[in-house]
Amino acid sequence: MSNENLVHPIERTCGIPSSLKGGFFMFRFGWMRFLDCDTVSPASFFSSLPCLETEHLSLRPLCRRDAQDIFSYASDPEVARYVLWEPHRSLADTRAFIRYVRKLSFRGLPGSWAVVLRETGRVIGTIGFMWYSEADCSAEIGYSLSRRHWNRGYATEALRAVICSVFSSLPLNRLEAQYDLRNPASGRVMEKCGMRREGILRQRIRNKGEFVDVAVCSILRSDLEA
Ligand SMILES: CC(C)(COP(=O)(O)OP(=O)(O)OC[C@H]1O[C@@H](n2cnc3c(N)ncnc32)[C@H](O)[C@@H]1OP(=O)(O)O)[C@@H](O)C(=O)NCCC(=O)NCCS
Repeated sequence: MSNENLVHPIERTCGIPSSLKGGFFMFRFGWMRFLDCDTVSPASFFSSLPCLETEHLSLRPLCRRDAQDIFSYASDPEVARYVLWEPHRSLADTRAFIRYVRKLSFRGLPGSWAVVLRETGRVIGTIGFMWYSEADCSAEIGYSLSRRHWNRGYATEALRAVICSVFSSLPLNRLEAQYDLRNPASGRVMEKCGMRREGILRQRIRNKGEFVDVAVCSILRSDLEA
């Protein structure tokens, strides 16, 4: 469940090597090389998120000047429908969200990346961590994009880049994500990125007044090595 635009939950991204810009096939084949990379401490990774480049997107840390772009889609009730945050009511909500994410970064805690459409230079979404467990070497990821840009493969591009980055940079064993069963597009993004659906948690959360069923998906380091 993506609650990354709220004034409390999170996510983030990094840069993807050009060899991974193609489809999932290349993603899988390019993987082993990245698993060999030296990992860094989580605090160092989170305090300085790497910039990631995909075919159409740049993923980078959020900055204050992103407020208007983020507000333009985070105020859309359709975008907020299946995530845990409420639509932003004003730019002040968006600025508070950005401040919150930047504060996390200063503290070396997991946060979010801005998803920038390179063609326009505008922020069209965010992707990042809901939480990270150093003890379990696991994390949860979430994302949301402007409605104008749905169904063009951008969430898939961003999530692939993040998967590559986090497994190559962090001592991570498991990355998970959840989606509201009424939001199959999000499940499809996870599936296209190689995440496996593990099961359904019935009425796991209360979202906007309703108890909703969620599916849990994950990808393990060993899935990437297979
Ligand atoms: C979910 C979301 C991130 C998807 O982003 P996106 O950029 O449109 O995703 P992609 O284009 O990479 O992939 C979408 C896939 O879902 C499919 N899809 C779209 N609507 C669908 C539906 N109603 N049922 C089933 N599949 C659907 C698309 O056809 C595509 O699959 P394909 O490539 O096999 O054709 C975007 O809709 C969004 O930001 N929603 C609001 C926030 C949100 O719900 N975040 C997820 C929280 S877990």
